[in-house]
Amino acid sequence: MTGSRVRIAAAALVLAGAVMAGAESLRANADRVGFAIGAAVAVGPLKGESTYGTVAAGEFNLVVAENAMKFGPLRPSRTTFFWDDADAIVAFAQANRMRVRGHTLVWHNQLSAWLTGGTFTRDEMIQILRDHILTVAGRYRGEVMAWDVVNEALGNNNTLRTDSIWYQRIGPEYIDMAFRWAHEADPGALLFYNDYGAELPGARSDAVYALVHGMIQRGVPIHGVGLQMHTSIAWSLSPQSLAANIGRFGALGLQVHVTEMDVRIEDSTGDLQGRLAQQASRYRDVLEVCLASHGVCRALLTWGFTDKYSWLPGFTGHPNEAGLILDKTYNPKPAYLALRDTLALASRPLYRHLPRR
Ligand code: XIL
Repeated sequence: MTGSRVRIAAAALVLAGAVMAGAESLRANADRVGFAIGAAVAVGPLKGESTYGTVAAGEFNLVVAENAMKFGPLRPSRTTFFWDDADAIVAFAQANRMRVRGHTLVWHNQLSAWLTGGTFTRDEMIQILRDHILTVAGRYRGEVMAWDVVNEALGNNNTLRTDSIWYQRIGPEYIDMAFRWAHEADPGALLFYNDYGAELPGARSDAVYALVHGMIQRGVPIHGVGLQMHTSIAWSLSPQSLAANIGRFGALGLQVHVTEMDVRIEDSTGDLQGRLAQQASRYRDVLEVCLASHGVCRALLTWGFTDKYSWLPGFTGHPNEAGLILDKTYNPKPAYLALRDTLALASRPLYRHLPRR
């Protein structure tokens, strides 16, 4: 190489080094602005594949169990609990100084056969639910920052779903009961109502609003609303509308967490690069709205983090569905870079000094 080429090459290396130095993990950038960035973690790969845990711990400061804390996995029988997997996730989080979201104490899905097939009286169902919540939230008392106490209580018609065993056997009051017991079990945990399809203003968001507003009026301990954010580039999502929706929960005194984000691209046509770019802008939009929500939206979690392990192919029937921010080989997708750039930008003084409400 000639002398000048060497100098140019050296300068390029310095530049590349500077870019790399600025390009830290999501976690480092999120920590700097006090934002919780998280992902759902599955126990199989966590135990079976070291890259999975290394990447999760490197990129996120918050973790949620994809399945391990649900009723079915935790309750092989009425009198026994299976703690291994849930404990493994909490231990992983603690070893890596990550916070934990608990998901979920009450849901109509993933229940045990002894429960769904059992013939229990209303009083017995109340006892079972109370025992479940006190035991599970009690075991992790002080270790779970926020619980999804009740998940998806609304049906597709935006009224309380009648296909929930809890609704059928206890009645609509199961929701208030669950929050009161969760609070009793872990008074320090933030208690969330979590649902899908309530991200934007509209009938379903109105139903969630009415539900949580009613709870507040009745003095039920509730601190936040979880917006699942299973979304697709085929659907439009106006950042202004999302901001307005988050703002009205904030006006009730509640926090918002984006709890289960993924962005489908296989239900659209067009070249892959273009669809990945659209996916990246959706992630960016949602994070930007959170960061500008004056502290109402304090956490964003994706439902998994690598396309190698995602519920989407099974759920949508598209075997190649790739809704997450890392590809199957853990390489960053445009969506990852969009989140990282957005978090990095948020730590810049101009942004931090935006006037608060
Ligand atoms: C999903 C898990 O990702 C799957 O592994 C499991 O088979 C079914 O449940 N909304 C929720 C999550 O609140 O608990 C669901 O998780 C996805 C939809």
